[in-house]
Amino acid sequence: MPSRLLLMAPFSMAPIASSPPPPISKHEYQKRQSQISQQLSARSMLIVPNNPTRSRSRDVNHRYRPSSDVLYLSGWLEEEGVLVAFSDATCSTSWHLFVAPKDAERETWTGRRLGVIGAEDEFPIDQAHVIGEFDGWISENIGNVGTIYHVFGEHSELDEMLLRALSEENRDRQRLGKGPHQVIDPREMFAEARLRKSPAEVEQMRYAAQITSAAHKAAMVATSPDMGEWQIEATLEGAFRWLGADGWAYPSIVGGGDNATILHYQANNAPLLAGDLLLVDAGSEYRGYTSDVTRTWPISGSFSTEQRVLYNLVLSAQEAAINACVVGAPYDEPHNVAKEILAQGLHDLGVFSESMDSILENFLQLVYMHNTSHWIGLDVHDVGVYRPDDSPRLLEEGMVLTIEPGIYIARWRSDLDMIDSRWKGIGVRIEDDVHITSDGPDVLSADCPKTIDEIESLMCSS
Ligand code: GLY
Ligand code: MN
Repeated sequence: MPSRLLLMAPFSMAPIASSPPPPISKHEYQKRQSQISQQLSARSMLIVPNNPTRSRSRDVNHRYRPSSDVLYLSGWLEEEGVLVAFSDATCSTSWHLFVAPKDAERETWTGRRLGVIGAEDEFPIDQAHVIGEFDGWISENIGNVGTIYHVFGEHSELDEMLLRALSEENRDRQRLGKGPHQVIDPREMFAEARLRKSPAEVEQMRYAAQITSAAHKAAMVATSPDMGEWQIEATLEGAFRWLGADGWAYPSIVGGGDNATILHYQANNAPLLAGDLLLVDAGSEYRGYTSDVTRTWPISGSFSTEQRVLYNLVLSAQEAAINACVVGAPYDEPHNVAKEILAQGLHDLGVFSESMDSILENFLQLVYMHNTSHWIGLDVHDVGVYRPDDSPRLLEEGMVLTIEPGIYIARWRSDLDMIDSRWKGIGVRIEDDVHITSDGPDVLSADCPKTIDEIESLMCSS
């Protein structure tokens, strides 16, 4: 990767301000492993399989993406692989990685592999083994552990191996009185660690968000009524790759007019019509770290009166929700703040004629039917229990969440018949990625134009 991004793109794109951050260091992976090791029981085994490859059609696979937990704990990028932590009677833990072996013929077809020696040299593990030895290694070592940490149901081949080893071992356990007697799900342990991002992780996410912001700007500049949603999708995703991202973090949502009111619209195959709004929810992934940004802009370059009013209402809800992202606030405080502002605005505009209380209680969900936030990190809907012990988690430094209020008034929805037709066909969502700090909210996607003036002047400058 060049340190400065070369920009002779086939579409108009402003350069991104910063250079790529350094990758996550070996030392940081070792620190993460040690944080997990400290939670393992003496004489235990933690098994973290990589994602299996998935067929898309006959001989064609989906593009490979390693499991987020394997990425988090080791940074391992190759297909296959199982990461195993082995904790002995004194709680001394060794980390093992089972990898695909060197194989000139297979490597000629599908790409170079590091193999055992390369994995040991380049990755933060104590010992690498070839994947074919996994079954035997488990059988050999399972009798020495009392606890196994594993998630059943995600990797059928590995589950079968483990169940076979467990049932064989269970017979010996009756005779010898040793061997595994409990299987624990490690997901909450990983989720707690991944929920709080390190400074190096935040910088990967900031860079992903900067690439995303540049791509949204290119898409705004490219938009005109003689185009189709697919061309905006191509502009965004071309820009992601052009700027060095791994690709998209989730399939891009590019919806014009009524399609902007479909939350996870993915067809992206309709023409763009003058006078409609275009909602774009698209984010790049960089070194496994995701971004998730939504902007809404007018296809012909300027907002109509109704679009302007609803847009500014969502924007004021979004800004107030971002300001509620402070250390110690309940994670759902931004949602409650956004709902209040949206309900008040819809009341004042006469979109709903009921009382504020009734709008909040019964009507707001007709046009704002999702939450304002989700955690974001290695997964776009990242891990982390929102309500531990059934009360909302309090925000801490290092957490990163989205703030994404919206209003969706579809023309085709008969349950919205009470709304005046002048508001119909408008879908607006505005979404940023917010890092919690003791100095207040740090908006990772701040480079992406958001006010009506910023959007209209960028679009009319093209
Ligand atoms: N960006 C899609 C979502 O948050 O669900
Ligand atoms: Mn989102």
